[in-house]
Amino acid sequence: MTAAVRVQGVEKAYKDLQVLKGVDLEVERGSIFALLGSNGAGKTTLVKILSTLLKADAGVATVNDFDVATQSGDVRESISLTGQFAAVDEVLSGRENLVLVAKLRHLKNPGAIADALLERFALTDAASRKVATYSGGMRRRLDIAMSLIGDPPVIFLDEPTTGLDPQARIEVWDAVRELAANGTTVLLTTQYLDEAEQLADRIAILHEGRIIVDGTLGDLKKLLPPAKVEYIEKQPTLEEVFLAIVTKGGADNAAAKGAAAGVDTEKEVAK
Ligand SMILES: Nc1ncnc2c1ncn2[C@@H]1O[C@H](COP(=O)(O)OP(=O)(O)OP(=O)(O)O)[C@@H](O)[C@H]1O
Ligand SMILES: [Mg+2]
Repeated sequence: MTAAVRVQGVEKAYKDLQVLKGVDLEVERGSIFALLGSNGAGKTTLVKILSTLLKADAGVATVNDFDVATQSGDVRESISLTGQFAAVDEVLSGRENLVLVAKLRHLKNPGAIADALLERFALTDAASRKVATYSGGMRRRLDIAMSLIGDPPVIFLDEPTTGLDPQARIEVWDAVRELAANGTTVLLTTQYLDEAEQLADRIAILHEGRIIVDGTLGDLKKLLPPAKVEYIEKQPTLEEVFLAIVTKGGADNAAAKGAAAGVDTEKEVAK
């Protein structure tokens, strides 16, 4: 079987600004592919080309075996795109948003589809509340849930966790993992190295218009000289502390760990 996404020699300029200078990559079916790059590297530009929102100046790209330039209708039926900025309707409730998209896609039983997705993304309790009252993490989850309606085989997630707190990021990560486990191909962009490390089967780095590195996490790690073994005292990261304190039952764990380490947890947190 061919790759779910194939990109060969794709170039794109905005007037004099040459953003993509010949991008090559392949995403295997059912895998999670992370495209890393700093601000302005061209990640969103590439995702827009792959989702037929933008035309490349040169090169070829196929999604689900359809050419993005000449078979854009077929490509659109094969994909969903969750943009960098959540595209949910604030005035509607979470459930209404989902039902609306299911109706737009002419699916049977829009209500049942909405309820199943609300359940899957842990939004059942908030289902009838206006999205305006949702937190950033809930909006993102709803946004991803909306993009799954109609079961597209390929989904593009442009910076799915930017701006989310650590707990909400983990919830989104779990949702993405579940997608891939069900056979969906996921291409996500991120600026977070740990996100790529957590999720991706394959990671590519877009830099100065080209893919400069492409491989598994193991491949990428081999690019650096082998780690020197050093004995250092392991300090918890701030993220570990945060998660230990805010997650259910975590506070007790944190207190227990703090006590074991001779730290007064409450005092430390209060500072
Ligand atoms: N419509 C446009 N017109 C002109 N320049 C643009 C346009 N869209 C993007 N650019 C420029 O192209 C470059 C790449 O932008 P792009 O949004 O693809 O980057 P990105 O990797 O997604 O960045 P970020 O991490 O900030 O989302 C940037 O320098 C940006 O300013
Ligand atoms: Mg972007």
